Formats: sequence, C-alpha cells, structure tokens
Amino acid sequence: MDARQLKIQAAKAALDHVEDGMRLGIGTGSTADEFVRLLAEKVADGFKVHGVPTSERTARLCVELGVPLYSLDDMPELDLTIDGADEIDGALTLVKGGGGALLREKIVASASARMIVIADESKLVDTLGQFPLPIEVAKFGMVATHYAVERLASRLGLSGTIEQRADKDGPYLTDGDHFILDASFGRIPDAEAIANGLAAIPGVVEHGLFLNMASAAIIASPGGARTLLA
Ligand code: A5P
Repeated sequence: MDARQLKIQAAKAALDHVEDGMRLGIGTGSTADEFVRLLAEKVADGFKVHGVPTSERTARLCVELGVPLYSLDDMPELDLTIDGADEIDGALTLVKGGGGALLREKIVASASARMIVIADESKLVDTLGQFPLPIEVAKFGMVATHYAVERLASRLGLSGTIEQRADKDGPYLTDGDHFILDASFGRIPDAEAIANGLAAIPGVVEHGLFLNMASAAIIASPGGARTLLA
C-alpha cells in the first residue's frame, strides 16, 4: 500500500462520519485533498453538504470538483471538521501548518463541534517536535518576533533552529498575508508551555500546536484504519 492509498483509506473512513446536510469544515493538505475528492463523488450523487474550506487551495479544489462552499461568516457554527496533521501524539495534540494553512485551520476547527484528524500512521508520534513547528507571524516587526520566539525557546530549554519559510518566489506568504517561522525543536516535551508562550508574543498571529481540539484521529496503516479518541 503506497502513501496515497493510505491517505485515501483514512479519508474514506472519515467520510462515514459526514452526514447529509452537515456544515463541514474542510481541511488542507494532501490527505484532506483525498477527502475532498471522495466527498465530491458523494455530492455528485446528490449528497448535501455545506463546506467551509480552510485555505484558498482547498477552496479551489472544492470549486473544481463541485463541493458547495460557504464562508465561515455565513456559517459560523460547524458540525464537523475533517483535516490532516503533520504530527499527532497519544493525547491527540497536533502539529499542523506544514501546508501553511494553520490559522484558518485553527479558526475553522474551533468553530466546529467536532474535529476528526485523518493521517497515515507515519504521523503518529510519542513526542511531538520532529516536524518543525510552524509559527505564523505578522510581517511587521518580523525580526523582533523571531528574536522573541528564540528567547521563549531558550527560556523553555528548547534548542534548535527557527527559520523563515521560503519558496521559489521568496518568503512564503500565508492566505492571510503573513510569514511563517518553522521552529525545529526536535522535541516538544510540554506543548502547553510553548503554546501559551507563543500566544503571549504580540507578533505571533498563530502557531501550529492544536491542543484539545481533535475529538478523534483516523490513522491509516496497511493493516487497516483505526480510530483514536481524545
Ligand atoms: C496544512 O497547513 C497542514 O496543517 C496539513 O493539514 C498538514 O500539513 C497535513 O498535510 P498532509 O496531509 O499533506 O500531510
């Protein structure tokens, strides 16, 4: 079973939780894309859903495949969000934002009664932190914010590099027109301490630690999909 088949397996299992007429947050990333493709097939067969996308990328795919979309302002309370993750620990604390959509993902997940994470088993970890933690920061004062994040890391005894994300066109920009710092701590022993510390830095718009947000995680593996509950 290749990586794509595992993503499809998780996405299929998540689709079983989507009921006709639901107000649905739709995540971002390659696993969420598989979910959108499967959802679109059901919609084409007459299934009704009110989708709220977590990124411009997901919105484009939904439009292309005919999944009906609404803005979160038109539909501010959602029944369920299905989204991927970069890392998931045993308590269902997540690292998200590898695809740069963390801010909208967190806003949409917070507006949802439930969030189900879909991933292959490579995302399941004992301790978070192998995947660099994405931190979305305002353009204004970015260097000062970078220093403030470094000071926080050193206060918390975390070592590693904190680098501004870039792509081929230069600094990476989020849908909200912010920069991203990727913090490679290697190990995040106390996610809550980092989350609280980051939230207290004014230039930090949002960070990719999702605490107490996922209600369940569907983990795909060659032996089948299993569900972990929070
Ligand atoms: C997008 O910003 C991320 O939070 C994604 O949900 C995460 O990176 C998982 O993406 P993949 O499904 O592509 O691994």
